Amino acid sequence: MPATGAAWIVRMPSKTFELVDSATGKKSSLPVRSGTIGPDVLDIATLNRDHDVFTFDPGFMATASTESRITYIDGDKGVLLYRGYPIEQLAEKSSFIEVAYLLLNGELPDKKQLAEFTANISRHTMINESLLRMFNGFHFNAHPMAMVSGIVASMSAFYHDSMDINNPRHREIFAHRIIAKLPTISAAAYKHSLGQPFVYPRNDLDYCANLLHMFYAVPCEPYDVDPLAAQALDLLLILHADHEQNASTSTVRLAGSTGANPYAAISAGVSALWGPAHGGANEAVLEMLESIGTADNIPKFLAKVKDKASNVRLMGFGHRVYKNFDPRAKIIREMCHKVLAKMGRGDNPLLELGERLEEIALKDDYFISRKLYPNVDFYSGIIYSALGIPRSMFTVMFAVARTAGWVAHWQEMISDPSYKIGRPRQLYTGPARREYTDIARR
Ligand code: ACO
Repeated sequence: MPATGAAWIVRMPSKTFELVDSATGKKSSLPVRSGTIGPDVLDIATLNRDHDVFTFDPGFMATASTESRITYIDGDKGVLLYRGYPIEQLAEKSSFIEVAYLLLNGELPDKKQLAEFTANISRHTMINESLLRMFNGFHFNAHPMAMVSGIVASMSAFYHDSMDINNPRHREIFAHRIIAKLPTISAAAYKHSLGQPFVYPRNDLDYCANLLHMFYAVPCEPYDVDPLAAQALDLLLILHADHEQNASTSTVRLAGSTGANPYAAISAGVSALWGPAHGGANEAVLEMLESIGTADNIPKFLAKVKDKASNVRLMGFGHRVYKNFDPRAKIIREMCHKVLAKMGRGDNPLLELGERLEEIALKDDYFISRKLYPNVDFYSGIIYSALGIPRSMFTVMFAVARTAGWVAHWQEMISDPSYKIGRPRQLYTGPARREYTDIARR
């Protein structure tokens, strides 16, 4: 259970669910388990054994896949806590590196712990030169997520010295390596797409300043990182660092539950994140703005969104869990306006269009009645765009941030001695048993 100060608080199960099979009259009681906060869960582990049935819940709409102490979301109230700390406080007072430490270790670091952790991450920023050469095998217009997921999976071929998943020290080294190297891998993917020389990391810069340096510096001239750009990026990374059992995190857990090496598990997470219903949404927001073109076309576009036959969605709006507002969107909206004011929305009419679309949709009954609010990715794409980060790199930036959460969840699972391979069951609706027909008679 999550800690509050030094004490562990556990709410004891207070009720059970009685289940009666109406066909056989067989009864059983299913225990209800309570977390620190949030809804109780019905423990159905004995259901199949006692009643020979499975539960059916496509999309995990009502299923808790695991117990976890890392992140808490209340979708109705718009609450997001990392290890108990509200996202608003972390966004205002913390840094991505401190948040990564918190997610991995469960507590905020003291000064010495933070300095040690920062130094560990800085020391691991370079990637093996052979790994770097692998980028040349990709076509220049390969999607960076394809490169990142491929290179992350390939890391398992490089670090045999520390890949025993049952060794806590090996797991710690892995955590430092992957968090440190993701910006370097991302920047290498970007430079490869431009045909520019790779820029080596600078360990005297902080995490986000170094990332921007590797993205934008070229060997032939000096490059100064804009402090507001580094600050905006740090905020985005904090907001995206974890989000409990989302699709990519669940993918990392499922892949990792087989005992696969952690690089393979994180690579699976990168691939899951790529989809437009998940991490690809911020890229899709910009594509959508481009397709709308100008503000006059907004009503026509929204009419299409409301027409179910069109299959068009207002990208960056709606969320599986947040049905009130996305607290991350509230925080990032402010930064978005700050960045646009400094970096100039005038150069980019799409950004102005985004602001107008948000304003109109928030007053529209279709979205109000369905509780569809802008999610974090409505604004993140606009900020990335204002920072000069190309659209195809947006999801990669998300992956850099979410790596901290993925690793924390993978660690939590692997260090639990009772973890099991994830193996869902199904409701089979295919043909019943039938006999093979010879091809001459088909
Ligand atoms: N635009 C238009 N209508 C929408 C949208 C949208 N963005 N999102 C939901 N709806 C409508 C649905 O059509 C449905 O309407 P109905 O009741 O009339 O049939 C209703 O709202 C409920 O929608 P569901 O699809 O059931 O909601 P679900 O929780 O499954 O979907 C999702 C959540 C996938 C995020 C969805 O809102 C969506 O596709 N949004 C756009 C993509 C996006 O921004 N994704 C980023 C999520 S945040 C992240 O990953 C960091």
